[in-house]
Amino acid sequence: MRLLLLGCSGFVGRELVPFLLELGHELTLVSRQSQPFPALVGKRLACIRLDPADAASWADNGLDRALSEAEGVVNLAGEPIAERRWTPGHCQLLLQSRVRTTELLVAALARLEQPPAVLVNGSAVGFYGSSTQTRFSETSPAGGDFLAEICQRWEAAADQVPAACRLVKLRIGIVLGPDGGALGKMLPIFRLGFGGPVGSGRQWMSWIYRHDLCRLIATALEDGAYSGVYNAVSPEATTMGLFASALGKALGRPSRLPVPGPILQLLLGDGAQVVLEGQQVLPERLLAQGFTFQYPQLSAALAAATNPAPR
Ligand SMILES: NC(=O)c1ccc[n+]([C@@H]2O[C@H](COP(=O)([O-])OP(=O)(O)OC[C@H]3O[C@@H](n4cnc5c(N)ncnc54)[C@H](OP(=O)(O)O)[C@@H]3O)[C@@H](O)[C@H]2O)c1
Repeated sequence: MRLLLLGCSGFVGRELVPFLLELGHELTLVSRQSQPFPALVGKRLACIRLDPADAASWADNGLDRALSEAEGVVNLAGEPIAERRWTPGHCQLLLQSRVRTTELLVAALARLEQPPAVLVNGSAVGFYGSSTQTRFSETSPAGGDFLAEICQRWEAAADQVPAACRLVKLRIGIVLGPDGGALGKMLPIFRLGFGGPVGSGRQWMSWIYRHDLCRLIATALEDGAYSGVYNAVSPEATTMGLFASALGKALGRPSRLPVPGPILQLLLGDGAQVVLEGQQVLPERLLAQGFTFQYPQLSAALAAATNPAPR
């Protein structure tokens, strides 16, 4: 397929882009960076340097044309959630980098006589809010906190896609991979033997191994049976406490030094909720549809992440 990719230069994109190329797809990557994948350019990968959250990038600057040539689109663009303190200005950026990009993308799709056949759009398990007790499936209602608001508005923007374009919305859990995301931050500390659960340890972590997420995105693009919202999480959610001890075990290091919640709150402000709270989310629709996870269990995912095979 000829694919247009937005927000695919980061932690997920690093594996997704080479994976889609290996599957034989032809890619145009939109990024604010000049060249996110220098080693891959030319191998059926073109890059356009534009900010997809800026209206001027679309009609005037060639994004419309790239879109008109695409058979499928993946949109994961969004300012990183847990990197900086949540000031009011930063909260606006977290929201608008996702909602505005998706609104502009969907408006551009509506201008096309023949839109691409499929849009795979990001969202997150934060849609459901946080809870230590409730188990959430795709039919569960949205939560009431800021992350839930971002996800609802992100999904609502994607819902405006023209009827001829199949829409797949992925409520992504914590993505596990060796070189970034939550695990990437924890690994150096755990390797030194200073690791432990963050906060109470009782908060849920619904996770997916990055390779499975890439396989899921490819499947959602290629298989017309995929449509609507899916929880992109493994079937085995865990708690922060169990996650920390499994990671210690995978590394053969102690993992009993808890990181107190108030320290994170000092560093990240309200953004600390991303790690101090969580939710137990089930991939009901993926299992019903027969999607098979290569890493359904945390022990196998952590073994792979802590000892990655050379590419
Ligand atoms: N990683 C996780 O655990 C996880 C969990 C749930 C949901 N998600 C969602 O999945 C998406 C991809 O995750 P990731 O871990 O790969 O994120 P990432 O490493 O932070 O990459 C984010 C991507 O979005 C683009 N981006 C960043 N800030 C932007 C802005 N202000 N305006 C427009 N585009 C911007 C970046 O593109 P350029 O810099 O190339 O322009 C980059 O390709 C994100 O939207 C994230 O919220 C991730």
